[in-house]
Amino acid sequence: MSVREETINEIKNRIDIVEVIGDFVSMKKVGSNYRALSPFTNEKTPSFYVSPSKEIYKCFSSGKGGDAISFVMEVEGINYIEALKYLAAKYGIEIEEEEQTDEQIQAQNERDSLFIVLNFASEYFSKLLWENEEGRSIGLSYFKERGYLESTIKQFDLGYSIEAWDGLMNAAKEKGFTEDILEKAGLILKSENKVYDRFRGRVMFPIHNVAGKVIAFGARTLRSDKKQPKYINSPETDVYHKSNILYGMHQARQAVRNEDMCYLVEGYTDVISLHQSGVTNVVSSSGTSLTKEQIQLISRYTKNITVLYDGDSAGIKASFRGIDLILEHDLNVRAVVFPDGEDPDSYSRKLGSEAFEKYLKEKAQDFITFKTNVLTDGGKQNDPVQRVEVIRDIVESISLIPDGIKRSVYIRSCSDQLKIEEQVLISELNKILIANQRKDRQKVQQEQVVEQDIQEAVATPEQQVVEHTTFYVERECLRMLINYGAEPYEENLSIGEFIMQETADISFEHPEIANVYQTAIKRLSNGQSVEPDNFISPEDPQTSQLVIGLLDMKYFVSEGWYERHRIHTSHESEDLPKATFKIVLRLKRKKLEALIAENDADLKLAEDAGNIIELENLLKMRMQLKSLYDQVTSQLGIVVSK
Ligand code: UTP
Ligand code: MN
Repeated sequence: MSVREETINEIKNRIDIVEVIGDFVSMKKVGSNYRALSPFTNEKTPSFYVSPSKEIYKCFSSGKGGDAISFVMEVEGINYIEALKYLAAKYGIEIEEEEQTDEQIQAQNERDSLFIVLNFASEYFSKLLWENEEGRSIGLSYFKERGYLESTIKQFDLGYSIEAWDGLMNAAKEKGFTEDILEKAGLILKSENKVYDRFRGRVMFPIHNVAGKVIAFGARTLRSDKKQPKYINSPETDVYHKSNILYGMHQARQAVRNEDMCYLVEGYTDVISLHQSGVTNVVSSSGTSLTKEQIQLISRYTKNITVLYDGDSAGIKASFRGIDLILEHDLNVRAVVFPDGEDPDSYSRKLGSEAFEKYLKEKAQDFITFKTNVLTDGGKQNDPVQRVEVIRDIVESISLIPDGIKRSVYIRSCSDQLKIEEQVLISELNKILIANQRKDRQKVQQEQVVEQDIQEAVATPEQQVVEHTTFYVERECLRMLINYGAEPYEENLSIGEFIMQETADISFEHPEIANVYQTAIKRLSNGQSVEPDNFISPEDPQTSQLVIGLLDMKYFVSEGWYERHRIHTSHESEDLPKATFKIVLRLKRKKLEALIAENDADLKLAEDAGNIIELENLLKMRMQLKSLYDQVTSQLGIVVSK
């Protein structure tokens, strides 16, 4: 569906960013702005700011920022249109959604028709479960035998598909849905001369997206027939990308946020049973290994994941990759293992709510204890060779954590638990970090930026391995310019002017950065000041987004408060000229690197061509470049390990 331009404008005009965000976090006024604990991280000191006058927010612990609409998208995990709908509902603005006549169903864009047909199917299946004779006697009685309450069955929209080739198909066609859309929704299958329902004679588990729309189904057989797969699931469709979805997230997200923790289980039935036992902050990866997208989805609501493992799970070792992936995304991970033969579903029913919740709380282990136990078979095995492997394995996991402080906490804990000197672990860790850094160079730039920010923050000066990407140094330079352009660099020279001087013959590689940079420079050379406000406006969301990302906290708080609470900004604010000088040097160093690489290539060409004169010139240039490069490097006072 698309929302009409006038409606969008009406929504935008009515939005009060403080009111919108206030529905999710409780804020305190500081000066003309508001401050709160970030809804995106589990910080203890508030670093989330809202500026009512600029109609923007910025979260300093996650770096996220934007306007009210992007806030709703972020916090609810929904898309632009869905956020608009949410805001329209909040402000009582009507979005015309057409009555669903045959023609209109087809006229609407395909995604929307998919949602509509999937919703229809879900209602159809649940109607069968409650009202159809086969549905009641087979499906409903199965759920009841499993101990599901009627309220639980309704909460998860469970259903039943009758034992027929065309049950859903006929009902859907009657409503005007085409075979084409049914097929695209994954509800029917076509073979050469047959068209038939995908789901037949199974209990149905609708899968919802975060906003609560049905996007797929899991269908469990009730037969013990081994030839039949236990579950048949919807295929990938335009609205269902398995790797992005966690079963139960829609029902769990509020609890996940409130409890600041998310339980992760394997199956649909685990999620449902835990809900019924009062544990509602639970989602399932649906029997497949955890993906990066799924972790990112969880991280919108909490940074704490507890993975629940079946007692006999042969897959526990295989699940280590999932744990590493969680650590890599800077989330905290714990694990609970159930007794032999039990899974979260069976065990929650066996113990009852209270005892089960207690079990979860008491048995949750941090990943070091968990890995150690699994790898040494609960401490039964203790041969030295294996011990070395266990230690290495755990340090590898620790090395994945981007946050340096967290890393050192885990190193200490590992040292205690495995009775091994901390120093040994640290040097092992550093080895891995440096090796990873090498690999990282080939990785996407954006990813590197984060890594480097953090690594630098924890490394002692001797260990500092500074290998910045061009994107990073360019962005940093722009950040200084925008935030501190007007502050003094030295007498009669502002930071903005200094940067302008020093970077006059440097061209910025990244177009979006170059763009803002040039505008800023133009302002400076016209004698105008440079402030973030010059670049933040609803008319240019892209530039705004970039600049909001660069904002310093100073922008949000009064001078006095800022002076007293320099907790979140790095110490750069204490010596701005020095910080600026360093950043400019870094930019130069990076540019020199590029010139040297270019020179390298030219040298090779000249060599191949046997062009002695050219070769000589290039070598001379090479020496100059190299000496400049060394000069800059030594001015930066960094030790580069190569
Ligand atoms: P389980 O076999 O543990 O299923 O697989 P379950 O949901 O706990 O069902 P009960 O308790 O035996 O009735 C865990 C998950 O793996 C996926 C499903 O998402 C299931 O919930 N799975 C399993 C499939 O997709 N296909 C299968 O054939 C089996
Ligand atoms: Mn199960």
